[in-house]
Amino acid sequence: MGNNTYYITTPIYYPSDKLHIGHSYTTVAADAVARYKRLKGYDVMFLTGTDEHGQKIQRKAEEKGITPKQYVDDIVAGIKELWKLMKITNDKFIRTTDKYHEEIVQKIFKKLYDQGDIYKSEYEGWYCTPCESFWTKTQLVEGKCPDCAREVELTKEESYFFRLSKYQDRLIKHIEENPDFIQPVTRQNEMLNNFLRPGLEDLCVSRTTFNWGIPVSFDEKHVVYVWIDALSNYITALGYMTENNEDYKKFWPADVHLVGKEIIRFHTIIWPAMLMALGEPLPKQIFGHGWLLLEGGKMSKSKGNVVDPVILVEKYGLDAIRYFLLREVPFGSDGIFSNEALINRINSDLANDLGNLVSRTVAMIDKYFGGVMPSELQQGDFDEDLKKIVMETPIKVEELLDKLQFNTALTEIWKAVSRTNKYIDETAPWILAKDESNKARLAGVMYNLAESIRIISILIQPFMPQTPEKIWGQLGLKNDETVSWESAKVWGRYPHGASVNKGEVIFPRIDVKKELEELEKLSGQNTAEKEKKETKEAPKSSKGDKKEKVEEASELITIEDFAKIDLRVAKVLEAEKVEGADKLLKLKLQMGNEIRQVVSGIAKHYSPESIIGKNVILVANLKPVKLRGIESQGMILAASDDSDLALAALDKDMGSGSRVR
Ligand code: ME8
Ligand code: MG
Repeated sequence: MGNNTYYITTPIYYPSDKLHIGHSYTTVAADAVARYKRLKGYDVMFLTGTDEHGQKIQRKAEEKGITPKQYVDDIVAGIKELWKLMKITNDKFIRTTDKYHEEIVQKIFKKLYDQGDIYKSEYEGWYCTPCESFWTKTQLVEGKCPDCAREVELTKEESYFFRLSKYQDRLIKHIEENPDFIQPVTRQNEMLNNFLRPGLEDLCVSRTTFNWGIPVSFDEKHVVYVWIDALSNYITALGYMTENNEDYKKFWPADVHLVGKEIIRFHTIIWPAMLMALGEPLPKQIFGHGWLLLEGGKMSKSKGNVVDPVILVEKYGLDAIRYFLLREVPFGSDGIFSNEALINRINSDLANDLGNLVSRTVAMIDKYFGGVMPSELQQGDFDEDLKKIVMETPIKVEELLDKLQFNTALTEIWKAVSRTNKYIDETAPWILAKDESNKARLAGVMYNLAESIRIISILIQPFMPQTPEKIWGQLGLKNDETVSWESAKVWGRYPHGASVNKGEVIFPRIDVKKELEELEKLSGQNTAEKEKKETKEAPKSSKGDKKEKVEEASELITIEDFAKIDLRVAKVLEAEKVEGADKLLKLKLQMGNEIRQVVSGIAKHYSPESIIGKNVILVANLKPVKLRGIESQGMILAASDDSDLALAALDKDMGSGSRVR
């Protein structure tokens, strides 16, 4: 194993009908690391793929009346297209339906069985199909899946089990001795305290009640548990257990598995235990990032949010989207996605700061020197400080990227951008240009600007696949050693005598108001179409009887009127009293992928503790209002009389986000 190799993976994706921008989060992050490591000269293996087996997929295919394979083939093609559009530079793409993968998973299962790590018994317990996850009765929270709070199914079947419990102590020791193994560190404590220290139970690793999976080779009515199948992808993709295992020898153990926080448990408990049983080394790190959520905040909700990654890339350009994903939120924390925040970032960081810096510099070299950088340069005030800030940047960016701190790495780069912009104001080239005797100093200023931009353009490469080349084109640089990664650490590589080329604006400014209106139309259209479909059966009123209808409306409402009210199931995540208002509680609700803040007058009847975790019914399309200065994005339903109040509830549990009508 060479130490100049770097192996990074994303999770393999469940084929999903509706891809949203959140889905590209892990992959864009992994791609930035892969690009960075390649620029640093590493021999990189970047793996992604799709996780195609399991009960969930089989059911979805059945609903559509097609075979699971037809169902996944179609979606996987779409996922591959999306990665192409986002310029993801994965070296391999694995599908768990690939023949070689299926064969090796069977071999892995057989080996573990032969050596006694897998044994046959009977499973009786609970299964969460959306998570493809087994739970014991005591692990359930109010009878629901502790991970996603959805309904679980009682399952009783003959099954094979993996001796997970046997590896518990070794796992605890490994995690304690390798503080980098689980990152961020908060996740480490979560795994130790919630799962490992309380004790592991053996894991059910086969199913007999459906057949969309890899058959157990020696007992074909069983299929391999989908997580055993899926996790194995990280080594089957490298040719593990085959004759063609050069990549395995070269790249394993992985340097990092990037995963969303909801699947950390599988990656830091089941996967390492499997590897221990196989006698293989453990990955060096599992990094769990946070989620990108949608907020029903005022602007974003009333203006609508477009989350389709294809539309976003077409509208704003790939580099802007990738920049936003990695800049807006610290990697590891949850963050909010809104079109408004995206547009603001594009305008301030990209159009104003970076875009203007490049176009002003190029325009000045063009105007004052006919587009050719002179070689006689005079240094002067402000130069040393500019150089100092710009030259510190590559070192900081490397340190931060090595720790997967994308957003702070970008913040550092943008400090250099701001410093360079400030340098223009300080040196005021337009004043220098008035006097011929300042020519050499003016040239010195232009050189320092071009050189700073050269360094910045090199550093943004991991994040932005398209912008660096555009900048180089304008600065008259070629994609050669003058823009190598290492050259960013040396001041003075911008060639004297280079010719600049005025070009297109790299990031055009977006008219926020107009754009949000357009987006509102786009998302309004979707809602209108949806509503049309949903009320298809309802009788339609023709234009002719409009007058009648208006009068009627004071007494009775039509089904169309009712359809305007968007009622949704929402789960209470947080609750707190509103200071100075004894009736009000401030609630944080989860509605599907969205987070809402609602202020509700229920504090006299419900304590904050008693309401957390409850499912409530939310009027989701109510115009936001401010109560005691706090924005309330919707209203929750309750029955009340003079003395008492009760929240409306469902008589069976439904996932948050479900429609009520
Ligand atoms: O979990 N914000 O696949 P998956 C941030 N097949 N990340 C998000 C996100 C959001 N809104 N939505 C999805 C699986 N992701 C399994 C993995 S690995 C052996 C098997 C991320 O399609 C999510 O956190 O549900 C995960 O990292 C990735 O997309 C794939 O999720
Ligand atoms: Mg998931």
